[in-house]
Amino acid sequence: MRSRLEWRRARVVEARTIAEDVRAVTFAVEGLSASFDPGSHTNIKVRINGEPAIRTYTVLPGPPGTLSIAAKRHPNSRGGSVFIWQLQPGDETELTEPENRFELSWRASRYLLIAGGIGITPIYGMARTLASRGQTLRLAYAAKSRQQMAFLDELTALLGDRLQIFAQDDGEALDLDTEFAALPPDGEAYICGPLGLLEAARQAWQKSGRSMSRLRYEVFGDNGRFAEQAFDVEVAELGARVRVRADQSMLGVLVEAGIDMVFDCRRGECGLCAVNIVEADGVIDHRDVFFSEIERQENSRMCACVSRACGGRIVIDTGYRPDLTAAE
Ligand code: FES
Repeated sequence: MRSRLEWRRARVVEARTIAEDVRAVTFAVEGLSASFDPGSHTNIKVRINGEPAIRTYTVLPGPPGTLSIAAKRHPNSRGGSVFIWQLQPGDETELTEPENRFELSWRASRYLLIAGGIGITPIYGMARTLASRGQTLRLAYAAKSRQQMAFLDELTALLGDRLQIFAQDDGEALDLDTEFAALPPDGEAYICGPLGLLEAARQAWQKSGRSMSRLRYEVFGDNGRFAEQAFDVEVAELGARVRVRADQSMLGVLVEAGIDMVFDCRRGECGLCAVNIVEADGVIDHRDVFFSEIERQENSRMCACVSRACGGRIVIDTGYRPDLTAAE
């Protein structure tokens, strides 16, 4: 089974730098539906080192018929942000109709929004929508410096003292325990940021005894603990062997090689692409938010869309058995 994506032709109409290392790009898109909810994302066809690839970006609020995204120039990027940064008005690509897996519930008495760095992209749209509908909210926005904070002026004007920023260079630190303690029992938190922030938030939320259904988060797929390296993958049940370059995802290479894979989000959230690890030469860089910390330490499964081996060879079992389904 493979995830089916419906592609639309798109042409760049604007590209500009909106904060240090953050570039916003707006596309005019053919046949785009009228509207989308905050937190939605689109898949974009990019080229990395001359090879085709797909990357996922949050969609920003914008005029009908257009989709805007913002990308951070990331030192550990597998190459998607490099492509986005090079786009100029008139350039063409394809992207998908927005989908949303990071939706507002509209059932909370108070919303706590937390953004880490470029994680502001879905949170920005959520803050605008919640504020326009008179909802009670607070936005905690953390980044290395004020210069790296996109949408800071707009958010300051929109939210006033409902916005608090935490600039690491100024010695300001976000305290998750304090943030969560200030939420009423039916309050909800929405978080987007690097893996470390999400892990810390999950642990602090669990410790506070709150329902996990009231914590929602989104992660960046290229946000690992180690720099990308090339590695080899052997698929045990097929006897196939592929090479994953530093700028590729394991899932992308396996699909490209014609190996049947189950997947959906491509961002380490749904767990559908998880494969069994039969053998590994070295360390596995788990970059998902699907598995618990204990499961990651067990190293028996990994999400092929975002997680990687740190060089060497890995032997996997995809678990995909089409003949079993057909026999039932
Ligand atoms: S496709 Fe969703 S976790 Fe990999």
